[in-house]
Amino acid sequence: MKLLIPGPVELDSEVLLAMAKPLMGHRTPDFEEILVECCRILKEVYQTRNDVAIITGSGTSAMEAAVASVIKEGDEVISITGGKFGERMGEIAQAFGARVKRVDVEWGDTFSLEEVENAIAESDAVAITLTHNETSTGVVHDAKALGKLAKEYDLLFIVDGITSVGGDEVKTDEWGIDLCITGSQKCLAAPPGLGFVAVSERAWEVIENNPRKRAYYLDLAKYRKSLAKNTTPFTPSVTLIYGLYAALKKIEGETLEARIKRHRTLAKATREAAKAMNLELFAAQRCASNTVTAIKIPSGLTDDDVRGALKREHGILVAGGQAQLKGKIFRLGHMGNVRFADLVQVLAALELVLKKAGHELKLGEGVAAAEEVFASQG
Ligand SMILES: Cc1ncc(COP(=O)(O)O)c(C=O)c1O
Repeated sequence: MKLLIPGPVELDSEVLLAMAKPLMGHRTPDFEEILVECCRILKEVYQTRNDVAIITGSGTSAMEAAVASVIKEGDEVISITGGKFGERMGEIAQAFGARVKRVDVEWGDTFSLEEVENAIAESDAVAITLTHNETSTGVVHDAKALGKLAKEYDLLFIVDGITSVGGDEVKTDEWGIDLCITGSQKCLAAPPGLGFVAVSERAWEVIENNPRKRAYYLDLAKYRKSLAKNTTPFTPSVTLIYGLYAALKKIEGETLEARIKRHRTLAKATREAAKAMNLELFAAQRCASNTVTAIKIPSGLTDDDVRGALKREHGILVAGGQAQLKGKIFRLGHMGNVRFADLVQVLAALELVLKKAGHELKLGEGVAAAEEVFASQG
């Protein structure tokens, strides 16, 4: 099955083979060396000089670690919510006793800075959360602008970068992100099962002085202590770290700059192809994601006409809509290792299934539009 979902993504053979290696002790110099290298490359990908904690757990565990480590019961937290994962961040904060003030953004659109500022001004919030790339709607929010606002109001800035770090631009330090979260199985193109949090000096201070935090395994203070000794606080998944290391070396080889450019070209090509296929994009153009594109299912067609047919007839898996978008959109993930040839295959198959289902389009026009975008990139 060809995976064009927004994670887990297909893995390079080097990454798969790395995970077939025999296990080594996790408290040995050989493993330490791998871990140190992973941390070094992760910092480059995050564009940070600060520590990056590696957690054995999916992206959500890293979200929980970030929130649980800095929030005390009763703290007010502003949560920008414009999709399923933005909601999750608010729910996690609530689970740890925060008073959550949601700033609801229309799904498919981005926040108004003025509205956010008004919400901050009316609150006694200590932190603000943002899902940088909202995977459920295919929207990328302006984390840089929000970081500036967070700084003005002295708020901790917690960012879910699970589908942006390693694929789109995330300038953790420059944008003032205090806790930047990601997961292994998305833009990093590593196996699922690892979560990461880049932590600023300011956030470390809060973490160290948070005696009422309700966390043990996910207490980031433990990760910092271990990072200083080039190790992890608990037994890591040695195998997943092998895979991560191989994936990070691939990123280093490609260079972050070229990788971001590749993702942006893929996104633009996907959007242009969709338009040429007479399809409507779900996200507003001004905030369309560079790693996942949400496309409306044309009226009269069902999710099965599109996604079901792609899977049955072409062995291609794309993602469906979530929550209230179930059956209304499909989402094409173009992150990690996806390249021109992968995208073109999917677009050609999409044209066929749409045509078969009665959607009006001219075969080849979507593919041609995507090719034009690649051609213009040189
Ligand atoms: C933006 C975003 N946040 C959080 C998550 C949850 O990550 P995980 O499934 O690795 O826990 C996802 C997964 O798709 C995501 O896209």
